[in-house]
Amino acid sequence: VLILACGLVVVLRAPASAADKVDFVRDIQPLFKERCVACHGEQKQKSGLRLDIKAAALKGGESYGAVIVAGRSADSAMIQLVTEAGNDLRMPPDGPRLTAEQIALLKRWIDEGAVWPEGVDSAVAENRLDHWSFQPLRTFPEGLGIDHFIRAELAKAGLTGADEADRRTLIRRASLVLTGIAPTAEEVEAFVADSDPRAFEKLVDRLLASPRYGERWARHWLDVIAFGETHGFEVNTPRDNAWPYRDYVIQAFNADVPYPQFIREQLAGDSTGVDAATGFLVAAAALLPGQTGKDEESIEKARQDELNDMVANAGGAFLGLTLHCARCHDHKFDPVSQTDYYGLQAIFAGVRHGERPITQANDSNLQERLKLQERLALVSHERGLLEPPAQLGEGAPRRPGVSPRRNIERFPPVETRKIRFTVQKTVDDNRHEPCIDELEIYATDGRNVALASAGGKPEASGSYDNPKHRLVHINDGRYGNSRSWISSTVGGGWIAIEFARPESVEAIVWGRDREEKYRDRLATQYLIEAQMPDGGWKVIAASSDRLSPGAQEKPLPEELSEADQKRASQLEGELADLERRLAPLWGESVVYAGRFEPAPPMFRLHRGEAMQKREPVSPSAVQALHPEFRLPDDTPEQARRIAFAGWLADPQNPLVARVMVNRLWQHHFGEGLVSTPNDFGRNGAKPSHPELLDWLAGEFIRSGWSIKHMQKLIVMSACWKQSSGPRAECLAVDAQTRLLWRFPPRRLEAEVVRDNMLASAGTLDLRMGGPGFSVFAPNSNYVRLYNPKPEFGPAEWRRAIYMTKVRVAQDATFGAFDCPDAGQPQPKRPRSTTPLQALNLFNSGFVIQQAELLAGRIEQQAGAKRTDQARQAFRLVLQRAPDPEELRVCESLVEEHGLPALCRALLNSNEFLFLP
Ligand code: HEC
Ligand code: HEC
Repeated sequence: VLILACGLVVVLRAPASAADKVDFVRDIQPLFKERCVACHGEQKQKSGLRLDIKAAALKGGESYGAVIVAGRSADSAMIQLVTEAGNDLRMPPDGPRLTAEQIALLKRWIDEGAVWPEGVDSAVAENRLDHWSFQPLRTFPEGLGIDHFIRAELAKAGLTGADEADRRTLIRRASLVLTGIAPTAEEVEAFVADSDPRAFEKLVDRLLASPRYGERWARHWLDVIAFGETHGFEVNTPRDNAWPYRDYVIQAFNADVPYPQFIREQLAGDSTGVDAATGFLVAAAALLPGQTGKDEESIEKARQDELNDMVANAGGAFLGLTLHCARCHDHKFDPVSQTDYYGLQAIFAGVRHGERPITQANDSNLQERLKLQERLALVSHERGLLEPPAQLGEGAPRRPGVSPRRNIERFPPVETRKIRFTVQKTVDDNRHEPCIDELEIYATDGRNVALASAGGKPEASGSYDNPKHRLVHINDGRYGNSRSWISSTVGGGWIAIEFARPESVEAIVWGRDREEKYRDRLATQYLIEAQMPDGGWKVIAASSDRLSPGAQEKPLPEELSEADQKRASQLEGELADLERRLAPLWGESVVYAGRFEPAPPMFRLHRGEAMQKREPVSPSAVQALHPEFRLPDDTPEQARRIAFAGWLADPQNPLVARVMVNRLWQHHFGEGLVSTPNDFGRNGAKPSHPELLDWLAGEFIRSGWSIKHMQKLIVMSACWKQSSGPRAECLAVDAQTRLLWRFPPRRLEAEVVRDNMLASAGTLDLRMGGPGFSVFAPNSNYVRLYNPKPEFGPAEWRRAIYMTKVRVAQDATFGAFDCPDAGQPQPKRPRSTTPLQALNLFNSGFVIQQAELLAGRIEQQAGAKRTDQARQAFRLVLQRAPDPEELRVCESLVEEHGLPALCRALLNSNEFLFLP
């Protein structure tokens, strides 16, 4: 034994004897443990490197990648770092340097192949996917509901729920939560008297159908994504055309758009004509060009910040993950690598801050334009019929040569659902990709059935993608180079349009640039085909019977009769006139919903630094989450966003439904089942009712992702209808009311308080949509100052959701009530109580003014008797009658200080300010 022991000691002491191979466990692992693992182990992974787990060690660190290159110590960064003297990068950074023997040993180990046996690691990489929110949704037997889960948790704590609240409380609670506006006294009375067992359900249905509902809910969503109507940063100039996005959100909630569609529209609404929705992408603050430094680094840095906000907003809002934490290093808590993060940036790589023209919002010229367009189609069709028909097959060419401006193809009527135009050659020896500004296809009754507005769907072999040249321009009804399609193939490519239904077509009109500014890129050889019911293609016109280009650009065909000549020339004149009259009617409305450019290649940035590009990354999402998602590098810009939206809404993705139902729960109870609504990762909170959360998420998906369905379900539960009164024995166990042994009462949000003051005073203006109103006096300094308006009038009496959201500036009165200032996403508002709030409510010009207007309304309705006035004041503000004691106090208050004083007191009462 002694000898053996001695032998062992000898072996330990002399591992490096040239004959012996270095043994990892014996020679290297102890060295790592002693000198490295404190910074490269379980607790810390400096520079992303771990030396206590084989796979992680061989993968390497953030700066150098693989720091151990088997067989090549000279190429291994690890050796350089432990060797280089006097270098502040040397490893370990503190304590004595490694000895020459230790370094020699490391070198030899690497040169001998860096053999690291399996199963000897001193630590196990934790599985970051082993976290509740990444697990698939649990499934449950049928017949369960919200109350089942709530009662089960209450029972575990020895608690019981409360009785149902009284009817007045119920209608006030439901109205305030679902619409943000209290019921009128008449509505309260009708509900209290309604003996129908379905009375409450009818009420809930009515509230969910109210347009006020979308206005209420939209506010929360706008908080979540930090929607603002100024650019932020010091300059903070207005973003005048951001409001259509707010209107989109309100309409989407009112229409109960299924959640996957809501996601897709916000990420890629430009693909389906819901343009304002992409305001989501650019909701955050941004530096305008000209506000960053001129040098490349400042520009790149500002761009990185923009992309970061896009990733952060999509991550926070839809996934409940802090994806932006992986900008500089792999996420320290969640399974999100830096590569994932930059893969997500690549999804948004072509999205730029800025306005873009849209045709739908507030298009006041629409009617007039549609009329002219219809006329233009009829004229163009009639003109087309005066053209000689295309001749297929042999024979001398007799049709005019192609013209950049306008070419007519006429052929016998053909029944088809799809027309294809294939370019075979272009001018200038095929130097460029062909361009077509518009393809008009006329049915026998003179309609242009190609138009997108008529349901025509374009498709192409490949398209240039930039603001002027886009596939959708081929059938948007607009002419000119700046609204044209360009193929992605030099000298060729095809474009096809599928109609909404089969049509009998007989003429096609196309051009390269009807505005006659450009003559390049003109198709000189082409083929036009119609698709047959069996899917095959039939040629209906071609360039083969045309004279050579430009050989005869005569305006009118020669062989027409004199009468037809005259008619054709009249029609040409009318066409020119219609084009001229149409042009200004496109009067673009613009919306701050992002501009789209071809996506540049993206790279991982070392430590998130804009100038430190590393390997390229493809558009992708979080690789650890299912289903797998990675797009080819050449995926066009818009297709990236569409695909990402699809990935988010995949029912396999366990986060999206959970995160959204949690927001709904939070809206109804004041606190979510998960109290960190934007962080479902390991650093976030655990759910108070994990099974309920999963049940709700499952129900959300089963309902076709209906938000209104979920809200109805929540509001109809016994849990939500409970009274909110405190019970000492429950408070003792669960003071936070996390287990929901009562309905948790809470102060109303600033916006709700303001809206209801206006509603009580009878001054609330319920006009929906459009640009908002400002509570700040205008000024036009370079660096904007937002000074409160000294006085408010009817223009400022719309619902608070329409108050123009100025970043980092608050309304003088209600800003003190935890209103987010759109500086940061605010998925959950804090609820503070400060003296300033009480002072503001009591003394602000706004409240005093509304109290006076309310007093006027009361006098008008109730006459001069104090008792009647006090009763009416209670009805209008609190929707109930005062009790005798209240009545007595109020009468004397009015006596002494006047009716406005009573109004002011009621508008400041807890009963008015709290959700019961
Ligand atoms: C006191 C903490 C500490 C100790 C101990 C330590 N390191 Fe480091 N190590 C760091 C830090 C910090 C960095 C990042 C340095 C930088 O890039 O500025 C780093 C970076 C590295 C890198 C580069 C990783 C990459 O690709 O980014 C290697 C290799 C490395 N260390 C090896 C070692 C080895 C081998 C040991 C033990 C012999 C060791 N370190 C001990 C703190 C430590
Ligand atoms: C702008 C760059 C940047 C961003 C964004 C960033 N970090 Fe870091 N973080 C660093 C740097 C630099 C270090 C120190 C070097 C290191 O440990 O790799 C660090 C270290 C840490 C550490 C200490 C880890 C250790 O091993 O000592 C934690 C924890 C951490 N970050 C969490 C986060 C979280 C959570 C977020 C998102 C909210 C985040 N980081 C976002 C740059 C960033």
